Amino acid sequence: MKNEEFSGGPKVEVRRTADGSATLYVPALDEHYHSRHGARQESAHVFVRHGLAPRLAAAAETGQPLRILEIGLGTGLNALLTLEVAQAAGASVEYDGLETYPLPPAVVAALQPEWDERGTPIKELFAELHAAPWDTPVALMPGFRLCKRHQSLQAAALPAGYYGLIYFDAFAPEKQPELWTEAIFAQLYAAAAPGAVLVSYCAQGQFRRNLRAAGWLTEKLPGPPGKREMTRAVKAMSE
Ligand SMILES: C[S@@+](CC[C@H](N)C(=O)[O-])C[C@H]1O[C@@H](n2cnc3c(N)ncnc32)[C@H](O)[C@@H]1O
Repeated sequence: MKNEEFSGGPKVEVRRTADGSATLYVPALDEHYHSRHGARQESAHVFVRHGLAPRLAAAAETGQPLRILEIGLGTGLNALLTLEVAQAAGASVEYDGLETYPLPPAVVAALQPEWDERGTPIKELFAELHAAPWDTPVALMPGFRLCKRHQSLQAAALPAGYYGLIYFDAFAPEKQPELWTEAIFAQLYAAAAPGAVLVSYCAQGQFRRNLRAAGWLTEKLPGPPGKREMTRAVKAMSE
């Protein structure tokens, strides 16, 4: 399926965040895709520093690709920062991004200048990520396989014991409570490999209790600028 064939997602507006990077604002939810204190900063801190970095080191020891699941793919910011860091580390990544509302081409075009400023090859990779077909694995670079999955998390059939790292980047619990339930974290626990890590910008108490009820071991870590805490959860190596 081509991107132009989708429609019906909520209207979004491009907004600038405090570190100069762009995010999207959803008027219908009164919600941003990223922290207003800095979209890129948040992504680099929560997902790359506290999720990807320790898991890349673990994957390097096994020589296996690191399998990442993202909920939801959105602008592709987390995916592209992950690609840059993994490539620099010489690590191989298989990245599945779930998304219910693919961005319309006009929104992708409005975000493109920010990536153009960063030069080659990342500006082309941003365009290629968004032009890639849905539900089909593509090699964005040698060693980085992306599969954009046009599916809601609730409806996704995820392989058991498969992912080494989960980026839980749904809209906030107040905006999307159906994605922050014990049942959802049990679904993700089943899809996670032993030793897998789940990271989220959210540090809410009920979120962490739901994670623990689903089997995850949780820890609080310092949040990105503008946010006191974030959450990292781990699936024990043996149950
Ligand atoms: C906070 S934004 C994520 C930002 C994204 N990670 C990025 O780097 O731009 C939340 C994303 O989840 C998507 N989403 C909403 N409901 C979903 C669901 N039930 N399953 C999967 N994705 C969903 C939204 O369309 C949106 O793109």
